[in-house]
Amino acid sequence: MDSILVRGNGPLNGDIEIAGAKNACLALMPATLLSDEPLTLTNAPRLSDIKTMTALLASLGAEVSALQDGKVQAMSCHGEINPIADYDIVRKMRASNLVLGPLLARLGHAVVSLPGGCAIGARPMDLHTTALEALGAEIELKDGYLHAKVAGGRLKGAVHKMRFPSVGATENFLMAASLAKGTSVLENAAREPEIVDLADCLNKMGAQIEGAGTSRIEIQGVDRLHGATHPVVTDRIELGTFMLAPAICGGEVTCLGGKLSLVESFVEKLEAAGISVTETERGLTVKRNGDRVKAVDVVTEPFPGFPTDLQAQMMALLCTAEGTSVLEETIFENRFMHAPELIRMGAQIEVHGGHATVHGVDKLKGAPVMATDLRASVSLILAGLAAEGETVVSRVYHLDRGYEFIEQKLSGIGAHIERIKG
Ligand code: UD1
Repeated sequence: MDSILVRGNGPLNGDIEIAGAKNACLALMPATLLSDEPLTLTNAPRLSDIKTMTALLASLGAEVSALQDGKVQAMSCHGEINPIADYDIVRKMRASNLVLGPLLARLGHAVVSLPGGCAIGARPMDLHTTALEALGAEIELKDGYLHAKVAGGRLKGAVHKMRFPSVGATENFLMAASLAKGTSVLENAAREPEIVDLADCLNKMGAQIEGAGTSRIEIQGVDRLHGATHPVVTDRIELGTFMLAPAICGGEVTCLGGKLSLVESFVEKLEAAGISVTETERGLTVKRNGDRVKAVDVVTEPFPGFPTDLQAQMMALLCTAEGTSVLEETIFENRFMHAPELIRMGAQIEVHGGHATVHGVDKLKGAPVMATDLRASVSLILAGLAAEGETVVSRVYHLDRGYEFIEQKLSGIGAHIERIKG
């Protein structure tokens, strides 16, 4: 298994390109199941999660080709569709559950394995199933699989309010309701930019969706959807992660394609810590003023709040801040697995339930570390850049799920980072 070696770094300077969003692409790809005409996604990120989604869609009967080195995903689902999403693929990636809504809408039935838990928490599916049941689906759990069907073969529009704005359940509902008979309304919908991107793409395919990006989304069901070409929105989590590199090491870096509107609550915290962020036509330029950042408190929340997917990376920054910061994780119950690893690097962190108290230290020290999920892994790389000596991050396959060419991108701005082939 590969690992990544990072050496403590001086200031970072230059430009870094931000890819299309993994989480948007993972929701856009299953939309191909809704139509027998081709769907082409441009600005796709080159990640192993995208390959997993490709394998899943292919197992369902879709044709998927990666063009231009994987930057374009061309899909078509014109043949016979297999309604069964197998455990062997679904267990690898929770986002596989995003085929449930489209399969049900297109075929009137679907059998999708439950994804199981993951390192950051239990991650149930009840919000997805109740949302689809509101549209007339009957869903039963048998042998670890959700067996879903709809009487008469077609979902019916309905008004549904979610108890929590789940990103995935909102996406499943949008795709399913697009082909339902009549009008649907989703209340307390998730407002993430990836939802807006999915709705834009579905609308290009002929869907009638209004209000994406607000908590009330209205969908007028249509009889069929057609083909479309759609560019995947910028990855706000990759953006935030790379914005933290100059924040941690000093220097000035422009994240090409970055937009303030994608990361507003995150930028508020960076600014409070003493980092300056400027938006230009090229992207977001991040500059660290002064020697040490200041401590700030962070609470993760659904969009537009501070994203849980940037909590681990923000903790890496706050480890060397002046003063004490408190990070509160409200989205996942077990998302401080990076804290013990950061402590091995000399950080002073106490975790109590959903709160982590970080007492800033002068310097971190390099160490061999290991992470159990994607964002935790990258937080250790960031911490390694701020540490004295060498840090080796193992279990790099987590990183490859969500960061394309991370060594090349970070070394392009002057970081000392290399992959050690395992
Ligand atoms: C998506 C993102 C993930 C991000 C998360 C929260 C993708 C592919 N992944 O995941 O990177 O961390 O949003 O921003 O887009 N929940 C339930 N029942 C359900 C569904 C969710 O209780 O049926 C709970 C989850 O356990 C979790 C919370 O709701 O505590 C948020 O989950 P959700 O918004 O659904 O996240 P995902 O769509 O899985």
